[in-house]
Amino acid sequence: MFADLPLLPPDALLGLTKLFNEDKRAVKIDLGVGVFRTLDGRTPILESVKRAEAKLLSAQTTKVYTPPEGAPGFADAIARLLLGEGHPAVADGRVFALQTPGGCGALRVGAELLKRAGAARVVAGAPTWANHQPLLAAAGLAVEMVPYYDAKTGGLFFDDFMSAVEKLGPKDVLLLHGGCHNPTGADLSPAQIDRVIAAAERHGFAPLVDFAYHGFAADLDADAFMAREIARRLPEALITYSCSKNFGLYRERVGALFLIGETRERVAAMRSQALSLARGNYSMPPAHGGSIVAEILQSSDLAALWKREVAEMAAQIRENRRLFVRTAGEMQFGERVAAIERQNGMFSMLPLSEAQVMAMRERYGVYMANTGRINLCGVNRMNVEYLCNGLKDVLRS
Ligand code: LMR
Repeated sequence: MFADLPLLPPDALLGLTKLFNEDKRAVKIDLGVGVFRTLDGRTPILESVKRAEAKLLSAQTTKVYTPPEGAPGFADAIARLLLGEGHPAVADGRVFALQTPGGCGALRVGAELLKRAGAARVVAGAPTWANHQPLLAAAGLAVEMVPYYDAKTGGLFFDDFMSAVEKLGPKDVLLLHGGCHNPTGADLSPAQIDRVIAAAERHGFAPLVDFAYHGFAADLDADAFMAREIARRLPEALITYSCSKNFGLYRERVGALFLIGETRERVAAMRSQALSLARGNYSMPPAHGGSIVAEILQSSDLAALWKREVAEMAAQIRENRRLFVRTAGEMQFGERVAAIERQNGMFSMLPLSEAQVMAMRERYGVYMANTGRINLCGVNRMNVEYLCNGLKDVLRS
C-alpha cells in the first residue's frame, strides 16, 4: 500500500523549532515559528487564560460533545470581538461564525467551501504565509501569486497589486491578510483597504481574509478595520481567525471561520455546507480552547485583563522592533532594515539570501525561516547586540 510514498522533508517552519532545540550551543536565538516570547524566551500562559481555565475546570460537569459550531458562547463572543458591538452585518443576520481547530482549520473548511461554490482561483500577494499554498491546494484550489511586497523598500508594490486586483472576476477569491502580514509585516493602509474593497464592489470577487494577529498591530479596534469594513460593504466574504497568538492558545487549536453572505438565507446555506464539511473532517472542534475564549470574553473582568495582556504583548513587540532598528543603526546597517520599525505584528523579512540565513544558523545559532523571515518576539535587549553583530558579519559576505 505505502511502498510508493516518498519521504517528505519536515515542515519548513515547524521543523525550525526542532532544529533550534537540538542546537547544544549556550548562546542561540530562535526567530523561527510565530509564537510570543518573554525576555527569557518563554511563551507563558496568559493570566486571563489561567483564571478562565480554573473557573471552567471547577464548573465543568461533562465531556459530552459540543455542537458542531463549537463551545457554547464562543461564536457570539468572537463575532462581537472581531466585528464590534452592533455591526450591521450581524444585525442583518448576514454573519455566521463557527469555531474551528485553529486558524488552519478555518482556512481548510473555508477553502473547501469555496471549492464547493465553484471558486475558479485564489489570488494572493507575494509572498504569503508558507502554509497558505499547500493548505488551499489540499482543498483543490490553485493559488496565483501577484506582486505585493517590495523587498527593497520594505513597503508595498501597491499599484501592481491593484492592477492584478482590478482583473479579478466574480468567481475569483482574493486572499488578504487581516493585519500583521505574515511573513513581511507590511500591511495595507486603511486608504488602500478602501480601494481593494471598492474593487471588490465593482468586480464581485470574494475576499478570503486570514486574520491571525488581532490586537498585535495598533489595538483590537483599529486592527479590525479591514474585517469590519469588508463585512459592512461587501455582500460576500470569508474571514479566518486564529486565537493562537492573541490568546496564547497555540496548542489548544482554537480559531473561527466567519461566513458573510448576501442574505440571511444565503448564509443559512453557507452554514449548512460549512458544518457538513467540518463533519466530514473533524466532526466538531475541540471544546477546551473555545470555552476559555468564551469565558474570557463573557466576563468583563477577564476581558479587561485579557485586553491589557494583548496590549502588553503588542507593545513589547513594537519595542523589540525599535530596539533592533536602533542597534542595527549603531552597527552601520540600519538603513537596510529601517522599514522594520514601520511594519506590524510578529514578522519582518531580513534582506538575506538563503546562504546568509544558513550562515546565521551555523555561525551564530540564529534560527529563522529560509526566506529571511524573522519573528521579532525573539529579539530583545539581552540578545540584540549579539544578533546584530552576527548580521553585520553575514551581510558583509
Ligand atoms: C508561523 O507562521 O510561524 C505561525 O503561524 C506558525 C505556523 O503554523 O506556521
